[in-house]
Amino acid sequence: MRTGILQKGCVYAMKKRILLAFGGCSTEYEVSLTSASAVLAAMDRSRYDILLLGISKEGQAFYFTGKEEKIAENTWQEADCFPATVSMSRGKPCLWVERGERLEKQDFDILFPVLHGKNGEDGSLQGLCEMAGIPVAGCGMESSVIGMDKVLAHTLVALAGIRVPKSVVLREFSEYGHKRGEIEALGLPVFVKPVRAGSSFGISRVVRAEDMEKALREAFRHDAQVVVEEAIEGFEVGCAVMGNAEPFAGRVDEIELSQGFFDYEEKYTLKTSAIHMPARVAAEDEERIRKSAVTIYQTLGCRGFTRVDMFFTKEKEIVFNEINTIPGFTAHSRFPSMMRGVGMEFTEVINRILELAWEEQNCGREQE
Ligand SMILES: Nc1ncnc2c1ncn2[C@@H]1O[C@H](COP(=O)(O)OP(=O)(O)O)[C@@H](O)[C@H]1O
Ligand SMILES: [Mg+2]
Repeated sequence: MRTGILQKGCVYAMKKRILLAFGGCSTEYEVSLTSASAVLAAMDRSRYDILLLGISKEGQAFYFTGKEEKIAENTWQEADCFPATVSMSRGKPCLWVERGERLEKQDFDILFPVLHGKNGEDGSLQGLCEMAGIPVAGCGMESSVIGMDKVLAHTLVALAGIRVPKSVVLREFSEYGHKRGEIEALGLPVFVKPVRAGSSFGISRVVRAEDMEKALREAFRHDAQVVVEEAIEGFEVGCAVMGNAEPFAGRVDEIELSQGFFDYEEKYTLKTSAIHMPARVAAEDEERIRKSAVTIYQTLGCRGFTRVDMFFTKEKEIVFNEINTIPGFTAHSRFPSMMRGVGMEFTEVINRILELAWEEQNCGREQE
């Protein structure tokens, strides 16, 4: 077998079997189908054999052997789907596939979750991988859990000395009664958000006090905890970060809004907003933003890759917003374009992500 030498003397067998998971029991199921199709189109087939694990919106897992185009069309469940389970036992990672009466075993080397939001990006799948000793692309269980929880992430990042928006957390709607004063002290507008969600689901920008109750109810439909945040004036910037022990940052991008905020529709249509890559900031400000992104990445214990989102104020202050441990992954998505900005093409980004997963699990423990 051809081998490649990576940092720290880790030996990486060149042809690996990748179990690529797509779909997911999450409101971001459709987003995952788009990301997964783009990842599949860019993957280097001379280095990787791909097995597909499709997860329906209801959370059923299938080994999918049909045409890859069916993923983007969301017709993959029509045929060539076999119920499947990832083994939780340690040893060679494997998938058990039900083929009628017969159980078939499919070995693989690395699990690549191209899943967004709940049950994929939130640490649950990563926990299963940790238990089974499966190399998993991207963040591990702990940082995935923290990254999904906007309040937990803010608390830890604030401890690292980076500003976060002032906020009030509600653990049930009835707390609104006695927390009303604290919420009013944040001023207006405020952002009302489910603590654990993504793609702007359940988020409202509240400008008038009389709209607060409706916004809270909407956010509580998406999660059992809701956070009300002061609005940060300025614009949102993102920075792609990759690596395990020695993370490095890509370029910084900027979201230009002409109205409202970066809601679900804007994220996927860019009707009234624009993304500038690189961000229109001075070189020294971009450097500060990149440094903060790496500090945030390390503070939250990230590995593999993460997109760190921050606000940049008129006073040139950096304010943390959130991290996305599995950011959007189409060829035109923000993460790949920020990496392209430092000379790394999409295919290379994917190769590196898979190598990092392998190194994390195997370096120092196994030589092939
Ligand atoms: N505190 C805030 N100040 C200003 N804008 C905000 C604030 N929080 C969120 N937003 C706006 O709402 C969008 C979605 O919020 P975000 O916390 O990033 O949630 P999601 O995980 O759904 O992307 C952001 O991209 C930004 O436009
Ligand atoms: Mg966001």
